[in-house]
Amino acid sequence: MQHLSEADKVTLLSWYAENQRTLPWRATRDPWHILLSEILLQQTQMSRGLEYWMSIIERFPTIVDLASADIEDLLMLWQGAGYYARARRLHECAKKIVKEYGGVIPSTFDELLSLPGIGPYTAAAVASIAFGLTHACVDGNIRRVMARLCSIEEPTEKEISMWAEHQIINTPPGDWNQALMELGAMICRPQNPVCGYCPLSANCRGKQNPMHYPRPKKRTSKHVKLTAILEIDNDGFARLYPRPAQGLFGGLYGPTLLEGNIDVVGADFAGVVYHSLSHRDFEISVFIKKTATSGQPISAHPLSSMDMKILAQGGVFE
Ligand code: ADE
Repeated sequence: MQHLSEADKVTLLSWYAENQRTLPWRATRDPWHILLSEILLQQTQMSRGLEYWMSIIERFPTIVDLASADIEDLLMLWQGAGYYARARRLHECAKKIVKEYGGVIPSTFDELLSLPGIGPYTAAAVASIAFGLTHACVDGNIRRVMARLCSIEEPTEKEISMWAEHQIINTPPGDWNQALMELGAMICRPQNPVCGYCPLSANCRGKQNPMHYPRPKKRTSKHVKLTAILEIDNDGFARLYPRPAQGLFGGLYGPTLLEGNIDVVGADFAGVVYHSLSHRDFEISVFIKKTATSGQPISAHPLSSMDMKILAQGGVFE
């Protein structure tokens, strides 16, 4: 395995000091600001993550504010960001921090790791960035940087974490973790890496053929057929039902969804909607049924992007 020299580390840290993106959570040590950014950025790209981060911080300036709110208030702000279990776990995490730590985010890796929704990546990120502790992060960016620097096609989780733990020695850990991630996001990018601008290119073994490393993981998606029944009242509002807490889009609302492609008797076929999640490709037949019972405007409850598409297919826009 290729390790970085002390000189490489200094070069990367000064590249980061000069080239890092200006982000509000980088101007603070507030662990709540940092925790929220790390949870959002794991599955949401930076520009959108930043927008969600700002609206959530505005509504919940402290983690105590979040703990005392209803989960639906958080899900209203999380709409469209996907991976809604993140929001539910974050709310659980906030409540546990109030109950067990008096509302103060704990400052050790092990305590952080014991909280709902905080895995090894997030615990290491918060411990290093907010509390200055030496814990190495491993995310997709760092995996790619390591695979290319060392020219390893399929590094194991163990190899990547050993590599990351070795490099972080003698560095300011929060900046170091972020410098590696920033390099992965801006220079050593998944597509079109710009090796000519890379501060580490002199000692990179993969630079002749960066796209060779790491070998892409095979993504398997299941094709799932669903049927949606949109009940629409006389004013054009749809009836929205809470989705079961533990199932798909738990905690959000939406029209009735049934498994399989069903020919709904007494309803009009309105078309098919396609929606993909990370491991599932949905094909949803949408039916419309008139109802005398009042529906709700779509702004009344949190809805997923998939449900928004279903509603739009049925002509419901408010
Ligand atoms: N991706 C997730 N967290 C990040 C951070 N703190 N800096 C850069 N990229 C990130």
